[in-house]
Amino acid sequence: MTDSRYVLAIDQGTTSSRAIVFDHAGTIVASDQLEHEQVFPRAGWVEHDPVEIWDNTRKVIGGAMSKANLDPDDVVAVGITNQRETAVVWDRTTGEPVYNAIVWQDTRTQKIVDRLAEDGGADRYKDVCGLPLATYFAGPKVMWVLENVDGARERAEAGDLMFGTTDTWVLWNLTGGAENDGVHVTDVTNASRTMLMDLRTLAWDEDVAADMGIPLSMLPEIRSSSEVYGECRPGVLKGAPVAGILGDQQAATFGQACLEKGSAKNTYGTGNFMLLNTGTEPVPSENGLLTTVCYKLGEEETVYALEGSIAVTGSLVQWVRDNLGLIREAPEIEELATSVDDNGGAYFVPAFSGLFAPHWRPDARGALVGLTRYVNRGHVARAVLESTAFQTREVLDAMNADSGVPLEELKVDGGMVVNETLMQFQADILGVDVVRPKVAETTALGAAYAAGLAVGYWSSTEEIAQNWGEGKRWSPRMDEGERERLYRNWKKAVTKTLDWVD
Ligand code: G3P
Repeated sequence: MTDSRYVLAIDQGTTSSRAIVFDHAGTIVASDQLEHEQVFPRAGWVEHDPVEIWDNTRKVIGGAMSKANLDPDDVVAVGITNQRETAVVWDRTTGEPVYNAIVWQDTRTQKIVDRLAEDGGADRYKDVCGLPLATYFAGPKVMWVLENVDGARERAEAGDLMFGTTDTWVLWNLTGGAENDGVHVTDVTNASRTMLMDLRTLAWDEDVAADMGIPLSMLPEIRSSSEVYGECRPGVLKGAPVAGILGDQQAATFGQACLEKGSAKNTYGTGNFMLLNTGTEPVPSENGLLTTVCYKLGEEETVYALEGSIAVTGSLVQWVRDNLGLIREAPEIEELATSVDDNGGAYFVPAFSGLFAPHWRPDARGALVGLTRYVNRGHVARAVLESTAFQTREVLDAMNADSGVPLEELKVDGGMVVNETLMQFQADILGVDVVRPKVAETTALGAAYAAGLAVGYWSSTEEIAQNWGEGKRWSPRMDEGERERLYRNWKKAVTKTLDWVD
């Protein structure tokens, strides 16, 4: 294989859509990115416009291709990775969404979730799908659309509507959409976040779908994470095969080469997501983690993961920027945080979407506690950063308890890992080394790997493991007593956020 051919990865994330061109060494050749609007129609509601997302996706593909000076023939495969659980419902004939995409952070489905839990409790479907009933997952969001958008149920029952997470929405449009019979497919990792897929059979569970009133005809076909799904029709990628799909957290796990049972990564994005590869058997969690599909390469055995999902980490920094105006640009948070020596006694628990792992408390809402007149902007900035590290500690403790084997180091990636102050504090509060790889764009890289493997651009996962290289390591410096004192305070702060919503 010569170096003159490339893999293009599309990363359709919560805040932006990106296209990144990778070469055979896994190095970035060119990239392009566009943010999309975050729509907040009411407290707790978060939406995206699917048409804007598709427009932006097309534009960034064009941008990356022209920056790298590539023709469609230069692209051996296209991989898609995406914000997971965000639900789009559209008309199969016109291609028009019937409603905005309901984003994974959106809590409007709480009543639907409560209704489902009346018969069997929050863990009613856990044996089947590995997930507790929560507003986070896609299935209840589709229910909301069918129950609340005029005419949606009738159209769905007549077979006129399609559902997809944003991987499916992008793939369907990329491969032809309404005009050219786009491919209606998702992969096992995205399907595992709907509550509708049986984790063992990797098929839609008809009973769960029936309980939720979701017609099977709306659902995409479930395929592996690495195989050719179809060819790009319109635009600058015409003819290139789309050959990999992984939900963004699974893509990061793959891009971080967590290919062995027992290996784990933590991604610092809008939220934080720690995934532990548990091998070829799904492992149920006793400690508030999710059981999910990690990846499945073509016909090979399915690999599963335990996941600790934290809803709000990086998006707290955005909130401090946009809603409080405390900083102008997100990276300024580090400068402000280092203007003081410690948090001054302040703790910020960003339970904006309730609390996810390991608590699963939809009734929680955010709190800034421990305030005195001593506390200033710097202390608040510090509390903001520390909240990411404390939440990660809660998840790591749950992971260690579930697996019985304490993690000895944590691979990290995502936007916030450039923040050295946070990374040092993270190592301090976990008491283990924190390791950042050389290529921090692990999410897009993971999707590129899945696509490239399917077409033989990369020959095996060993090549992926060889491409991984350590970039920087932070070791704990804090003494044990201080670490545990701070963490005790954090836990006390968490208790102040509970029982806030009836
Ligand atoms: O489960 C939600 C997750 O996939 C979102 O990730 O990086 O788009 O915030 P991100």
